[in-house]
Amino acid sequence: MTVTNPILCAIDTPDPGAAGKLVRAVQGEVGGIKLGLEFFGANGPQGVRLAAAGESSIFLDLKLHDIPNTVAGAVRSVASLEPMLLTIHTSGGPAMMRAAAEAATEAAQGRRRMKLMGVTVLTSLDGSDLEAVGQRGPVEDHVRRLAGLAQKSGLDGVICSPMEVAKLRADCGRDFLLVVPGIRPAGSAVGDQKRVMTPREAIDAGADYLVIGRPITEAQDPAAAARAIRAELP
Ligand code: C5P
Repeated sequence: MTVTNPILCAIDTPDPGAAGKLVRAVQGEVGGIKLGLEFFGANGPQGVRLAAAGESSIFLDLKLHDIPNTVAGAVRSVASLEPMLLTIHTSGGPAMMRAAAEAATEAAQGRRRMKLMGVTVLTSLDGSDLEAVGQRGPVEDHVRRLAGLAQKSGLDGVICSPMEVAKLRADCGRDFLLVVPGIRPAGSAVGDQKRVMTPREAIDAGADYLVIGRPITEAQDPAAAARAIRAELP
C-alpha cells in the first residue's frame, strides 16, 4: 500500500488539553494520530472529536474483544468518529472478526470505511505467559497463525512488533496493512521498549505505518522531531 506519511503519533495522556495541543503541534508533519484507551476512558468520543479536530487520520486503539454481536455494535458506535484505523483482538476468533468487518462496511455508508487492525499477541506476553493461559508453542508461531486468521476473517491488517514485520509481510502479501510500534530513531531514548527498530529499518522490513510516541511527544519541538524522522524515510 502506498502511504504518503507513515508516521502515526501516539498521544498517550488522559489530559484533553495536552492531547489537543500535541495534535495541533504535529498536524501536517505526521500521517495520523493514535488515541488509545487511556484517552478514550477519560474523555470518550466527544473528547476524540475535540482533541483531534481537523485531523482526518485517527487511529483509535481500543483493542476490542467481546462476543461478535457486541464487537459489531462497538464498531458501529465509533463509526461516527470516522477513524482511519481501529484495533480489535484477533484472539476473539474468526466469527468476531467477520462480524466486525461487516459492521465496518455497513457503517461506512458512503464515508471512508475504517480499516480494522488485529492485535495478535501483546508484546508484554512471553512464552511462559502464553503457556499459563493454555497456549503452547513459540510465540512467533502463534503470532503468524493469528495474523493469517485475521486476514482470512476480513481484517485489513495487524499491529506487529518490529521483529515480526518481515515474516508477516512474506506470509500475508503486499496488500495486508502492517502497523508497527516499538520504533526509535537512532540516538533516542528507548524507554520501556525492549525490542526496537529505527523508522527506516521498519519501513525497509515491510511496515506500512509506524507508531511513534515519546520520541515525538516528549521532544522540545514535536513538529521538528516528526519532520526529522520523516526526512530519514524513503
Ligand atoms: O512512546 P512510544 O513510541 O513507545 O509509544 C508507542 C505506542 O505504541 C504506545 O501507545 C504503546 O502503547 C503502543 N504499543 C507498543 N507496543 C505494542 C503495542 C502498542 O508500544 N506492542
